[in-house]
Amino acid sequence: MYQVGDVLVDKEKIKKMLTDISDKINKEYSGREIIMIGVLRGAMVFMADLMRLINVPVIMDFLVVSSYGVDTETSGVVMMIKDVDIDIKGKHVILVEDLVDTGFTLKYLRNLLDSRDPASLKVCAAFDKPERRKVDINADYVGIQIPDEFVVGYGLDYAGKYRNLPELFVLVKKD
Ligand code: IMP
Ligand code: MG
Repeated sequence: MYQVGDVLVDKEKIKKMLTDISDKINKEYSGREIIMIGVLRGAMVFMADLMRLINVPVIMDFLVVSSYGVDTETSGVVMMIKDVDIDIKGKHVILVEDLVDTGFTLKYLRNLLDSRDPASLKVCAAFDKPERRKVDINADYVGIQIPDEFVVGYGLDYAGKYRNLPELFVLVKKD
């Protein structure tokens, strides 16, 4: 059994992370239109917060992938459950992820979206666990690096739960 433990990233830090990333995006994409693609379900909270700080036109779409079952370890196999609806050819795309862990999901999605010829493709992730990386890949805009702990809240779940917690918490084993 698991339960929610201490706060790892509080509201203040989340707010600063959102400002830092949106400042960069607003500068780099000035005068352009962005297609933001959120990776459901985890990125939903982060994307909703981030996109409201972006001051260039944003078109949003979502895709759904799955790699975790009900456990805390990745299977390494990424499954596309729902693809995006819009054609990204010739467009400036930012893929929005909740967290980069092993990197399997990011690698799969980057290859897939790249093959559709966007004008540019960047990846933005709220959280990053660099120690856990199994493939050599990183997000272009990284919010907060965190240690190798299983975390929940701010969109991230354990067995479908805790996504609604407003801050990031460590999940701990209960005896
Ligand atoms: P990766 O493919 O191993 O990089 O993992 C990608 C996805 O696994 C993330 O986008 C999360 O949805 C999920 N994930 C990885 N670590 C955690 C965690 O600590 N808590 C909740 N979900 C996680
Ligand atoms: Mg997930």
